[in-house]
Amino acid sequence: MLVGPSGLPYGLAALAGAAPVERLQEMRVAVSLTILVGTMTGTAELVAEEVRDTLEPKGHAVDIRPMDRLEASVLEPGRTYLVCTSTYGQGDVPDNAAQLYEDLQRRRPDLAGVQYGVIALGDRTYAETFCHGGRRFDEIMRSLKAERIGEVMEHDASAGTVPEEVAVAWAEDWVQALAARPRLKRGEAA
Ligand SMILES: Cc1cc2nc3c(=O)[nH]c(=O)nc-3n(C[C@H](O)[C@H](O)[C@H](O)COP(=O)(O)O)c2cc1C
Repeated sequence: MLVGPSGLPYGLAALAGAAPVERLQEMRVAVSLTILVGTMTGTAELVAEEVRDTLEPKGHAVDIRPMDRLEASVLEPGRTYLVCTSTYGQGDVPDNAAQLYEDLQRRRPDLAGVQYGVIALGDRTYAETFCHGGRRFDEIMRSLKAERIGEVMEHDASAGTVPEEVAVAWAEDWVQALAARPRLKRGEAA
């Protein structure tokens, strides 16, 4: 690669002349991800849409997929996922997430090379099972060697905070952490 006097490759140096440094930094951290939505009454879907609507204008590519009828094969090495799910029953995943969760349990695919984050929606009124829907996905994906980026975001519906607002603030930091991580390939340790 040819490097110009600025130390940047020639193409980038030309771009640097045309674009402010902040724009270059934004371009460097652009990420591509799929938000997998597990929901009963639509809150997680709303959260996913707000996260997408915040990240896309910043150059990130965000695809939203409801978990309905998905199987474990949806998780592909080299790709990044944000699991956005609520909790129901006795700390269960929502009905529309059950097939994907059970398929992961049954097939136990090697998820090395998959990167993911978790937005877990719950309610501390359910003290024993707070946010267990998101935590269940986190546990199984980690046990299958996927790499979690950042901490699990937990939203408490009884706290009086707006889940979309909490999630958007968290997701902005999360994509920065994601962009700073090297890409993993199948079989590589995190
Ligand atoms: C019948 C019912 C059961 C619930 N069970 C739990 C639970 O066990 N643990 C928890 O943290 N939250 C529980 N919640 C709270 C929901 O997960 C929370 O309100 C969430 O924001 C709903 O998101 P959704 O609209 O995307 O499904 C329950 C809510 C309802 C209505």
